[in-house]
Amino acid sequence: MLSLVTSNKHKYEEIFSYLNSKHIEIKWVQMSYEEIQADDNETISIDSCKKLTNKIRQPFFLEDTGLYIANLNGFPGPYSSYVQNTIGNENILKMASDSKAYFKTVITLYWRKNFYQFSGMLNGKISSKISGNLGFGYDPIFIPDNSNKTLGEMTTDEKNKISHRFLALKKLYGFIVENDVKNNL
Ligand code: IMP
Repeated sequence: MLSLVTSNKHKYEEIFSYLNSKHIEIKWVQMSYEEIQADDNETISIDSCKKLTNKIRQPFFLEDTGLYIANLNGFPGPYSSYVQNTIGNENILKMASDSKAYFKTVITLYWRKNFYQFSGMLNGKISSKISGNLGFGYDPIFIPDNSNKTLGEMTTDEKNKISHRFLALKKLYGFIVENDVKNNL
């Protein structure tokens, strides 16, 4: 079976919900791992994946996500986790309310001793206040383009129709089908 490595329950739920709808079974390996500091999510994602190849039975995948805020020159980007845990959403609002921003997710899959990456982006803006208690992380302060509510006001199903994670997952799913990964585990 394909394993997903993450300690984040919300990420697991979003990923499970999408792949389950496509009849792809996943096993949740609920563990945290050290992430390097790097300038982009691709490097962090593949580095984490490489470090786990001896610990997790393949095939497995994981993902790294960042929030890039235009008025802050792309900050926090690859430091999104650290910033969320230190200054948090209230302080981001003080610095960057109404700024354009985007989320980026990079999935790395380890299959048959090779690494494959799939990315997805969601454009939007930082809200003027915290709204909604659904989702996680920056969701309550991020309003996607063409929406009048934050990701924090969206159900998993609603978020999964537009999100960075969904767009990366859609590419992963395409790869799984194209390469018949289900029958070549
Ligand atoms: P990481 O990918 O687990 O390193 O996440 C980086 C930071 O971004 C963490 O603080 C997460 O809470 C946050 N984050 C990741 N994905 C999302 C998302 O889909 N919505 C809102 N915040 C997110």
